[in-house]
Amino acid sequence: MRSRFKSLLVTGGAGFIGSCFIRYGLNKVYGVEKMVNLDALTYAGNMHNLELIQSDTRHVFVQADICDQGTVAKLLEEHQIEAIVHFAAESHVDKSILGPREFLETNVGGTLALLDLVRLSPEIHFHHVSTDEVYGSLTHQESSFKETSLYKPNSPYAASKAAADHFVRAYANTYKLSITISHCSNNYGPYQHPEKFIPRMIAGCLHESFLPIYGEGMNIRDWLFVEDHVKAIWTILEQGVTGESYAIGGGCEKTNIDVLHCIIDTFSALENKDPNHLKLLIKKVADRPGHDLRYSIDATKIKKNLGWKPMYGFASSLRETIRWYLEHPKRLEC
Ligand SMILES: NC(=O)c1ccc[n+]([C@@H]2O[C@H](COP(=O)([O-])OP(=O)(O)OC[C@H]3O[C@@H](n4cnc5c(N)ncnc54)[C@H](O)[C@@H]3O)[C@@H](O)[C@H]2O)c1
Repeated sequence: MRSRFKSLLVTGGAGFIGSCFIRYGLNKVYGVEKMVNLDALTYAGNMHNLELIQSDTRHVFVQADICDQGTVAKLLEEHQIEAIVHFAAESHVDKSILGPREFLETNVGGTLALLDLVRLSPEIHFHHVSTDEVYGSLTHQESSFKETSLYKPNSPYAASKAAADHFVRAYANTYKLSITISHCSNNYGPYQHPEKFIPRMIAGCLHESFLPIYGEGMNIRDWLFVEDHVKAIWTILEQGVTGESYAIGGGCEKTNIDVLHCIIDTFSALENKDPNHLKLLIKKVADRPGHDLRYSIDATKIKKNLGWKPMYGFASSLRETIRWYLEHPKRLEC
């Protein structure tokens, strides 16, 4: 794969997906001369995510907030940035239910701060990393989300991402900016923050503590290995059409309880443990308020138009993910 852009600004590049995007870009994409990684290092950012690329001089890390327009403006000029790939966000739904304001400030205000700078330099391409959660929830019978699905966000997190999407689209239309947007389903893989479902359950298996699952565990998510997601974003940057959005998903719908059973079975096989003992630790807890029942993505557009498809299967990539956490147990501590 070849990058259309030599010099990129990546926001949130010390997080789970942003760091994977940078590692992938430096190792597998031709033509990248510089990736400036701007991250505020909130509780979710982790410099250890960047250890494998610390000697690569094409990667420049800057600790700053996306709302700090002075710093961002200086970086855009100093590094002759050609594209911004915007990952930085507050990303945890439960946290957004407890305290929505931070989500408004970072996810909406931060995106707006970046867009206002692109307005001053409209030659810069802006890619917004959005989520499938902006489309709300599906029943078991409804067809999968696609680019034309209606926005119906249900959580404060989803509402903040939806609002950011609307600003990206409106700025593109009003100020003639070059933008693309991607809507991906749930990611998993190494380096994910332990507050998220899969690492939290691996931690529970390791420490033989309770394995809490919301409600009956029947909520459905469409899982995608993180490297497949970042490859899709690189593909959009290379060939995507300006002004378009792309839905990205693994075609891998599973209930949460099924995912937990897969984690327990895989963990037990790797660690020589009794899966039945771990299954006794599953504890159903009060459901998340407004919990979306089902997410599912129809990724036909990016597959047909851009030739992307997921490369990693769920069982083998989950095994590799669990193996990675077992080799890095500190990464399971919050
Ligand atoms: N995790 C998923 O399954 C998933 C799926 C679809 C889309 N997304 C989107 O992908 C993006 C990245 O998600 P993730 O799971 O890697 O999140 P993450 O929480 O692991 O990482 C977010 C990063 O952003 C940084 N950050 C937060 N606020 C900032 C600010 N004000 N200024 C600068 N940096 C800031 C954090 O320090 C962290 O490094 C988010 O925009 C999220 O909405 C995530």
